[in-house]
Amino acid sequence: MKIKDNLNISGDLLMKSGSPDYRLEAEILLRHVLKIDRATMFSNLENILDSKQENDIAELVQRRLANEPLSYITGTREFYSLDFQITSDVLIPRQETETLVDEVIKIAKENPLKIVDVGTGSGAIAIALAVNLPLAKIIATDISVDALHVAESNTKMNDVFSRINLKQGNLLDVLDEKVDVIVSNPPYIPSDQIEHLQPEVKKEPHIALDGGSDGLEYIRQLIGNCSEKLNDNGHIFIEIDPSQSEEVLEIADTHFPDARTAIIKDLSQDNRVLSIHLT
Ligand SMILES: C[S@@+](CC[C@H](N)C(=O)[O-])C[C@H]1O[C@@H](n2cnc3c(N)ncnc32)[C@H](O)[C@@H]1O
Repeated sequence: MKIKDNLNISGDLLMKSGSPDYRLEAEILLRHVLKIDRATMFSNLENILDSKQENDIAELVQRRLANEPLSYITGTREFYSLDFQITSDVLIPRQETETLVDEVIKIAKENPLKIVDVGTGSGAIAIALAVNLPLAKIIATDISVDALHVAESNTKMNDVFSRINLKQGNLLDVLDEKVDVIVSNPPYIPSDQIEHLQPEVKKEPHIALDGGSDGLEYIRQLIGNCSEKLNDNGHIFIEIDPSQSEEVLEIADTHFPDARTAIIKDLSQDNRVLSIHLT
């Protein structure tokens, strides 16, 4: 079968399953098997696939039809224009989380700040910060040992292994020094909403999604415990669901009545980041 025919067949199957990006997904799966870039694929559309290639592509399409996320199938994801290795032990980094990275870079660009990324998962936030903030000292924590293995591989892949101190443990408990910035994308989905998530999101680690009965359990713990871990003039940036804006501002005001608090929007203009600046 020719490459172009294979793309049409895979695309049709993926379209019928409801994938909005069926064309692109068919291309990505084919290119993953053939290990070729997009330009090479388009200049070889008339080439004939051998039967092993056809079978391998068909197998990946079946996995996708069974709602396995594309990044788990290809094992990769781009975040902040960097490449990350992704396994089913980690949350797939989302584009909206880049807003968190932008906010930290804004305040840390010129200063040699100590930053902790709490719940680092694949290491996406910590690594994007290390690459863009050569003066920063960065610690990344996660409760999941398996996630930390993935984060470690990603620090090596992005040449920042020596710049990030990876630590295993609960939230800020493992921090034995004060920091200037706490940044976190914690689990924030209410427990009873997990079963209603899209099937492919449900394939991501439960521990990365479930934020307790109202989704705010980890956010409350983080804000409640961070005062003894933050230097004067410190900053906290926490990713939230847009629906949580008012509640997280209340939590922040209760713990830090004198701090400057704000909700920052992501590129889609959704409320996405709680910012607390101790003054
Ligand atoms: C929503 S994911 C974020 C992953 C990554 N930072 C990102 O933005 O793609 C939340 C992460 O918090 C970790 N986590 C869950 N409970 C934790 C806890 N009590 N202490 C530290 N990390 C925790 C999970 O293992 C997961 O990696």
